[in-house]
Amino acid sequence: MQKLIIKGRRELSGKISISGSKNATLPILAASILSNQTTIKNVPLVKDIFTMVELLNFIGLETKIIKKKNTIKIENKEKNINTLAPYKLVKTMRAGVLVLGSLLTKYNKAKVSLPGGCAIGSRPVDLHLYALKKLGAKIKIKDGYIFAHAKNGLKGANIKFPSISVGATENALLAAFKAKGKTTLKNCAVEPEVKDLITFLKKLGANIKSKGRTISISETKTKSSKINHTVIFDRIELGTYMIAGALLAKKNLIIDKINPKIIKSELSVLKKIGVKIIKKKNSIIIKEAKKYKKINIMTKPYPGFPTDLQAQLMVLLSQANGVSKIKENIFENRFMHVPELKRMGAQIEIKDKVAIIRGPTKLTGAEVMATDLRASVSLVLAGLIAENRTIINRIYHLDRGYEYIENKLKNCKADVKRI
Ligand code: EPZ
Repeated sequence: MQKLIIKGRRELSGKISISGSKNATLPILAASILSNQTTIKNVPLVKDIFTMVELLNFIGLETKIIKKKNTIKIENKEKNINTLAPYKLVKTMRAGVLVLGSLLTKYNKAKVSLPGGCAIGSRPVDLHLYALKKLGAKIKIKDGYIFAHAKNGLKGANIKFPSISVGATENALLAAFKAKGKTTLKNCAVEPEVKDLITFLKKLGANIKSKGRTISISETKTKSSKINHTVIFDRIELGTYMIAGALLAKKNLIIDKINPKIIKSELSVLKKIGVKIIKKKNSIIIKEAKKYKKINIMTKPYPGFPTDLQAQLMVLLSQANGVSKIKENIFENRFMHVPELKRMGAQIEIKDKVAIIRGPTKLTGAEVMATDLRASVSLVLAGLIAENRTIINRIYHLDRGYEYIENKLKNCKADVKRI
């Protein structure tokens, strides 16, 4: 198993370029089943993307990854299509369940493994299935698989999600793509990654209108399609490196290939804490401040503060003056990083889904273990500011979502080694 070794307290300066968004690329890869020829650019070369491409190959699409251009080409020649997403590919990557909507709307049937739970909670798919049933799919769960079929095709419907779900919104959009008539989805997730999927589907000829949390989509009639799409930047990677800059950038840390307009809530939280941020058109400059103020926040669906940045923010708050509180509202168990941070000296208590963080505390290096993708990167941030050396085990979690993390950090003078 690979490890990261970090020698702490190195000042960061220089430039970091943000990669494409993993969470925008994954649903768009699922949507490529609906297209004949697709070219997707600005794709992050991370493990989850390779797993999703493997799944598309298994289904019968032809794929080509051009690594040096961060580009993936996909062809659906409509030959020997296998409407199956096997457990071995879905268990490690929950987003595999997104092929359900595409397969169902195009081939009227699909057999997709239930995604395994993961470190941050059970993560059911009941909201996905609720929407598909509303669209007329017959669903059966058997032997850990979702068997879905719609003999005469899916039919448009009015669907109101009981709670907000990114994946369920995406699966419903994919399923409604060729459903007869019009579908109206209410109480949708409106993350930028969902918007990027909508942009992609519109290029495929979909007639989609969205207003607030309501999205309507009518049956798409276009036949052949050859499309190009460049995915948006990864706003969670951006938030992660902004926090790294806030912790250690004595001189300027420049973060580019981004659009500051879509991270308003993250920017306002960091500004409230006292992080010095200079916004440019496609980049942000971060400078470490002398001291940081405590804050109380809760994670919310977009445009609220993202749950995917909660672990990273906790490390910054361990350096703020006073007692801060973070309430995790999205997942039932997303504080796996807390015991590891405490072993490095952080003073954090958990009380009914609220993390209480006392600062400022000096962190010291330790051997720690990554659990989920975002928890792992909070350990990297802690290692960067801790005295001495930190060893992070099980960094395959990191490789699922952060492209070239040690190279990006080394380019900014951090002392990070992968062994
Ligand atoms: C997406 O996961 C992201 N993953 C997650 O990022 C992100 O944390 C999450 O949205 C919330 O923003 C991808 O886009 C690939 P949800 P998703 O459905 O779609 C519950 C990362 O680090 N729920 O919005 O799975 C669920 O358990 C990952 O990149 C149901 O109860 O999240 C959770 O508590 C981690 N039933 C809440 O809703 C369902 O059918 C929000 O989940 C679906 C979800």
